[in-house]
Amino acid sequence: MEFEDIETVAVLGAGNMGHGIAEVAALAGYDVFLRDIKEEFVQNGYDQIVWSLDKLAEKEQISEEDAEAAEERITPVVPVEEAVADADVVIEAVPEKMEIKKDVYNEVEEHAPDRALFATNTSSLSITELSEVTERPEQFCGMHFFNPPVRMQLVEVISGKHSSEETLSAVEELAEAFGKTPVRVHKDSPGFIVNRILVPLMNEACWMVSEEDATVAEIDSTTKFDMGLPMGAFELADLTGIDVIHHVLEYLHEVLGDAYEPAPFLAETVETENYGKKSGKGFYDYEDGDGADVP
Ligand code: 3HC
Repeated sequence: MEFEDIETVAVLGAGNMGHGIAEVAALAGYDVFLRDIKEEFVQNGYDQIVWSLDKLAEKEQISEEDAEAAEERITPVVPVEEAVADADVVIEAVPEKMEIKKDVYNEVEEHAPDRALFATNTSSLSITELSEVTERPEQFCGMHFFNPPVRMQLVEVISGKHSSEETLSAVEELAEAFGKTPVRVHKDSPGFIVNRILVPLMNEACWMVSEEDATVAEIDSTTKFDMGLPMGAFELADLTGIDVIHHVLEYLHEVLGDAYEPAPFLAETVETENYGKKSGKGFYDYEDGDGADVP
């Protein structure tokens, strides 16, 4: 599949990343199928896209016509065969668990056209291992967006062991057509580049709280105002999803060793199911809006 021939994009998973990627693709003029396993998940993802497009239009970052046209280009669906039947590219953004992703690829392989490229938005998992579930490993690569996709410029395009140059170039050109800046990651190592650096930073912040070396407020003030990050370490974890950070760390811990062991404070927070902004509460409380209950 050449970049020039790409017209239809299927995005699998309507969570934070999936709906953001679908929005970016629709804004760039592609026909988009947004798929999740339940009607309410797809609807929620679609509602978030509408919210975001309205916000961008309100701020005159896009015109109202562009917002409406983007909305119309997105078809929310549940049956996977409907989502991928006419896809030129399938971008998968389902939960960050190897087994879940492998199950999805088994299903998608059956229904997607032979020409379709498969791009996974995995945050850390092996592209090579995922690609080997399919019968088209050379048409498979990583396409890793950052949260929120509509605002973040970078896309990591990761080469698996079998990814062809044609596939990588087409996906890079697609990222550019989405208005993003692709960076080629030539080695499929755990966490790729950004998450190998960023996730341990958030974990170290959690270790400091676990060991009572510093509080959430102290660490966020330092990371934001002194280290110059756009958000504090905990604010960023809340935006990204504490469950996602935990999944990435579990994988890095498993394949890279003890330096990546999730901190108790992180693991305990995941157990409360307060995953961050998307849950209304994480390290900060977004329902009260003041973040007052952080240690
Ligand atoms: N669509 C439309 N508007 C949005 C939006 C979206 N998706 N998300 C936020 N906004 C709006 C907010 O509602 C707010 O609106 P308001 O002004 O009316 O209240 C406004 O955008 C805030 O934007 P600003 O430009 O004023 O704010 P900032 O300058 O702080 O920019 C930011 C926001 C771009 C999110 C910035 O804080 C930032 O870059 N943060 C870091 C994000 C980051 O590092 N992400 C990567 C995480 S790691 C990851 O995703 C990898 C994964 O695999 C784990």
